[in-house]
Amino acid sequence: MSLESAALRRVKPSPTIAATAKARELARQGRDIISLGMGEPDFDTPDNIKDAAVRAIREGKTKYTEVDGIPELKEAIAAKFKRENGLEYSTRQVTVAPGGKPVIFNALMATLSPGDEVLIPAPYWVSYPDMALLAGGEPVFVDTSVEDGFKLRPQALEAAITPRSKWLILNSPSNPTGAAYTAEELRAIGEVLLRHPQVWVLTDDMYEHLVYGGFQFSTIAQAEPRLYDRTLTMNGVSKAYAMTGWRIGYAGGPEPLIKAMAKLQSQTTSNPTSISQWAAVEALNGPQDFIAERAKVFERRRDLVVSMLSQAHGLDCPRPEGAFYVYPSCAGLIGKRSPSGKVMENDEDVVVELLEREGVAVVHGAAFGLSPFFRISYATSNAVLEEACRRIQRFCAEVA
Ligand SMILES: Cc1ncc(COP(=O)(O)O)c(C=O)c1O
Repeated sequence: MSLESAALRRVKPSPTIAATAKARELARQGRDIISLGMGEPDFDTPDNIKDAAVRAIREGKTKYTEVDGIPELKEAIAAKFKRENGLEYSTRQVTVAPGGKPVIFNALMATLSPGDEVLIPAPYWVSYPDMALLAGGEPVFVDTSVEDGFKLRPQALEAAITPRSKWLILNSPSNPTGAAYTAEELRAIGEVLLRHPQVWVLTDDMYEHLVYGGFQFSTIAQAEPRLYDRTLTMNGVSKAYAMTGWRIGYAGGPEPLIKAMAKLQSQTTSNPTSISQWAAVEALNGPQDFIAERAKVFERRRDLVVSMLSQAHGLDCPRPEGAFYVYPSCAGLIGKRSPSGKVMENDEDVVVELLEREGVAVVHGAAFGLSPFFRISYATSNAVLEEACRRIQRFCAEVA
């Protein structure tokens, strides 16, 4: 008899966490490793947010709270949705969980029955398919292409929808490609969805604030208000406020869905950490200026990485609208010999050889459902990025 449950046997561990673990292990052995695998801002959590957490501890706000968030945080989230997205959610339409990940998992677990399908544009963030599988659903991938800027085409969506389609997951700006949808592009997707009332939309807006070159962020319930009643608008403080370790994610959506998610959370994690919730209140209600300042820093890093990778032989690196990832094609390296003489048959071979030879850790495209590509996270300093890109250039130059 297997130790792992039937449900767990359907999923694999997160490949991005695995890639980072491998890089850490090599670094521990004394290798000079540059890890561009992890999706985490290198900035620190701002002091006003840390101070709010310390205050919460001192004031004894250290006990159980309401299962899916304290009223003060729900109010701050509702105000954020109104202020930044023009979306009206009452506090009863808001839920808070221990990170963005559990928000998505709660939504899928609370709503999927065996055989229900979850439409996932590929490339996708690694956790969507496995969460759908864990929740008993079936991921259905809808391919995008580099020519379409890695964005879902309405015709492709239309062709993938069946009577069992329960959710479409949208993620803009995207992890792993950085691609972001304009309001007009979202409306075109909305046109398709309006013809299929059985499909709900989960929009993962974690990278909302990381958009560049004057790009205007939009979210689907705002772009197509007729979808408001079947959209879960998910977000969190992890990326925008450099709070990955605090574990606070949230969402706004129809009350019955929010209630179902709270019911699930009441029997699993219960409330997110009380202290982190008070810190998140300060994050959302406090000064916001630093977000745009940090986005400017990310924009310069994006430009640096795109320009250096474009000079690497055999790579083709699109310039994405947002997030802190680039997703270059390595088609020009496939079938060729790495500097150590190994024929690289796929993108996984490319990243393994790159790590072995140059000590640069990136994540192969197959992990995100579209090959041959790899993902670079540029959430690190210019000096580190320059060195990493120089090593990648050298690796590519030695491929024969
Ligand atoms: C697209 C996307 N959604 C959700 C998350 C999860 O965020 P959290 O760390 O708050 O669970 C991440 C984190 O990498 C992400 O990239």
